[in-house]
Amino acid sequence: MKMPIKFPVLYTNRLILRNLLPDDVLDYHEIFQYEDIKSFLAEEDIPVTIKDSMEDLHYWNRLFDDKQSIYWGISLINNNKIIGGIGFNYIHFQNKRAEINYDLHPSYWRQGIMSEAMIEVIDFAFHNIGIHRIEARTTLMNKPSQKMLEKLGFIHECVQKGYRISQNKALDVSLYSILGNFYT
Ligand SMILES: CC(C)(COP(=O)(O)OP(=O)(O)OC[C@H]1O[C@@H](n2cnc3c(N)ncnc32)[C@H](O)[C@@H]1OP(=O)(O)O)[C@@H](O)C(=O)NCCC(=O)NCCS
Repeated sequence: MKMPIKFPVLYTNRLILRNLLPDDVLDYHEIFQYEDIKSFLAEEDIPVTIKDSMEDLHYWNRLFDDKQSIYWGISLINNNKIIGGIGFNYIHFQNKRAEINYDLHPSYWRQGIMSEAMIEVIDFAFHNIGIHRIEARTTLMNKPSQKMLEKLGFIHECVQKGYRISQNKALDVSLYSILGNFYT
């Protein structure tokens, strides 16, 4: 397992995946202000104020500075505006596994954008970091996310009962995974 020393900027046909800068805060904040997206996320994962969004950006950047994980901002190749984010909530180095996390501005949904970002990030994780298992967890009603994961080759493993607490309620989640070359 090796974490890159310099932040790894990734390119796809339509996208640039890059580190988030303080100047991106308004773009980042905007993504989470639409009811469409809020309905799929736990309340504590939604930044309410610009200050919350700035703290999120610091959090994601610190993860990379501390060489614990990587989180990329997503922008279109011809426009610097941040339209989404993708990265790993955590990387477990000993067991070579990580949990992926992604969000896209609703104006860009259903154009294959997150699939394009996912393919690049998964490839980078398997071939450059040395991760062999990537997990994704979704709420049970998050069909768009589940369908995207299945289309990308993730396997639905199980429902994890009461996996997370949100607003004093225990929520069930669907666990998906994809394995790298280690086992194939
Ligand atoms: C989940 C999400 C990232 C998908 O991004 P996207 O760029 O729209 O996804 P894609 O266009 O790459 O879709 C890939 C496939 O996923 C499925 N899919 C995506 N959105 C769907 C929807 N609303 N309904 C049904 N299937 C959907 C389709 O099979 C689609 O392929 P197709 O368009 O060729 O049929 C986006 O909907 C999002 O940001 N949702 C809110 C935040 C969220 O749920 N984050 C993940 C938390 S686990």
